[in-house]
Amino acid sequence: MAEVSFDYRNLTEVEGGVREAELDEIKPRLEDAAKELIESDLGFMQLPGTTRYAEASRALADDIRNSGATDFILCGIGGSALGPMALQKALNHPYYNQLSDRGGPRIHFAENTDPTTLGAILDVAEPESTWVNVVTKSGSTAETMANFLVVRGFLEDALGDGYREHTVFTTDPEEGFLKEISDREGIKTLPIQQNVGGRFSVLTPVGLLPAAVGGLDVDALLAGAAQCVEEVNERGAEHPAVVGAALHYLMDTARGRNVRVMMAYADALERTAAWFVQLWAESLGKDGKGSTPHAAVGTTDQHSQVQLFMEGPQDKVIEILQVENHPRDLEIPRAYEDLDGVGYLGGHTMAELLNVECDATQKALTEAGRPNCAIRLREVSEENVGYLLQALEVQTAVAGTLYGVNAFNQPGVEAGKNITYERMGRPGY
Ligand code: PA5
Repeated sequence: MAEVSFDYRNLTEVEGGVREAELDEIKPRLEDAAKELIESDLGFMQLPGTTRYAEASRALADDIRNSGATDFILCGIGGSALGPMALQKALNHPYYNQLSDRGGPRIHFAENTDPTTLGAILDVAEPESTWVNVVTKSGSTAETMANFLVVRGFLEDALGDGYREHTVFTTDPEEGFLKEISDREGIKTLPIQQNVGGRFSVLTPVGLLPAAVGGLDVDALLAGAAQCVEEVNERGAEHPAVVGAALHYLMDTARGRNVRVMMAYADALERTAAWFVQLWAESLGKDGKGSTPHAAVGTTDQHSQVQLFMEGPQDKVIEILQVENHPRDLEIPRAYEDLDGVGYLGGHTMAELLNVECDATQKALTEAGRPNCAIRLREVSEENVGYLLQALEVQTAVAGTLYGVNAFNQPGVEAGKNITYERMGRPGY
């Protein structure tokens, strides 16, 4: 059972916060938006209740793990990489690409087209036992295809045509160049359902295959997400993820707070915040609308950005991702007890310090009249992460309706792509 809660008190009770009357006023629109989502056939709302993709992902992951794979390189970008990365960072060993406490190969992400990163991955990977997973819904994203071609060459040098055995495509099942290559070369392929957009695809094989390769419990992940969908279906506009859409929308449009900071007080959730930044930005930034998402990590960014959050322009909403029980704790040994500035730490624990600082930041922001809210996870488990990702997707989709934009397209990224295609000599551009 997922245990994730939402606390918006410091968005409504602080000076300059959203007033009850404003929430009452927007309520009919929010109810319509929730109803529209619940009655829609949007793929991302159906994913948690669909087990066949999890089964297919797990079966293939078992083959990969049982083959003695040492390295698994995921080539993908945007929605085809951020979700898988968020899952590994949250739920696998923090150094999952060096060692995994859940068994299986090292997992690497070839996302950017930076040759230094890709070269470094290939320095580490053992070619005879490396698998590549090419993830692209369109089947033609330049960055992904370039990374794939380099990794393919690396595998071909070691395995000849056997590279095909070590290759998995995750792509649109009906169309695209990757589908064409898979038909031609008999490469194993997992589908990205056509009615699921890239940034909403973390619970398709896009995220599920690497999760299962990393030894994560994909059933629990889906169960957490399914619980969220069930609760949204039951509670509609009363569900806190939906209420949050209205609050963030009002903070932007009625209060001029057009920066939404997601500050994760757990390194494990740092990539989740990065995933959310893409989800919110690419879904809502249209027609001159949308607030700017920004990711931060506590406590690290207390020593970097919190000064700005506390005393800078009143243009932000700070959302804290808080974890009650951390997967591991370390006691701080007693030492230098005669020194006031050091001795007091002994006997406490690292998790205690992290959580005290998290509370302290929320209290300080509130006392300074800086609107903030919190999403709290009992622990960073598959169920809770599944719930959280689904809830943030729901919130983004509902916010899209409130803003009056199509949350599921991204026309603004096409112009740059077309210029790149032309300069790189793609036929027809
Ligand atoms: O959310 C989206 O649709 C985008 O961010 C895509 O995921 C990204 O552009 C990569 O596209 P593709 O999966 O087609 O390679």
